[in-house]
Amino acid sequence: MFRRDPLPPEDTIEILLDGEPLAARRGETVALAMLAGGVQHFRGSVVSGAPRAPYCLMGVCFECLVTIDGVANRQACMVTVTPGMRVTRQSGAPEILPSILPEAPQ
Ligand code: FES
Repeated sequence: MFRRDPLPPEDTIEILLDGEPLAARRGETVALAMLAGGVQHFRGSVVSGAPRAPYCLMGVCFECLVTIDGVANRQACMVTVTPGMRVTRQSGAPEILPSILPEAPQ
């Protein structure tokens, strides 16, 4: 669907997608790096697990949610790649960390 122009070596960095290396262009977003790398399935729907992928590429639709460096629900279209960034595709609803939940009333 997407085809990337050749990456100039001086602008090429590497990120990890689900533990596998993925070449990215310095300054592009995670979503663009993934799409240019041939990735079409960014996450599974929280309801049915159906594959989802970016739609708006401008921070509106939230279809591009991924886990970046251990933080779930990051918008891949709004985050710029950095060398060694760890990106993981999500499936279903990510768990909420107990440490960020408010204390239950006694
Ligand atoms: S693609 Fe729509 S918010 Fe990222």
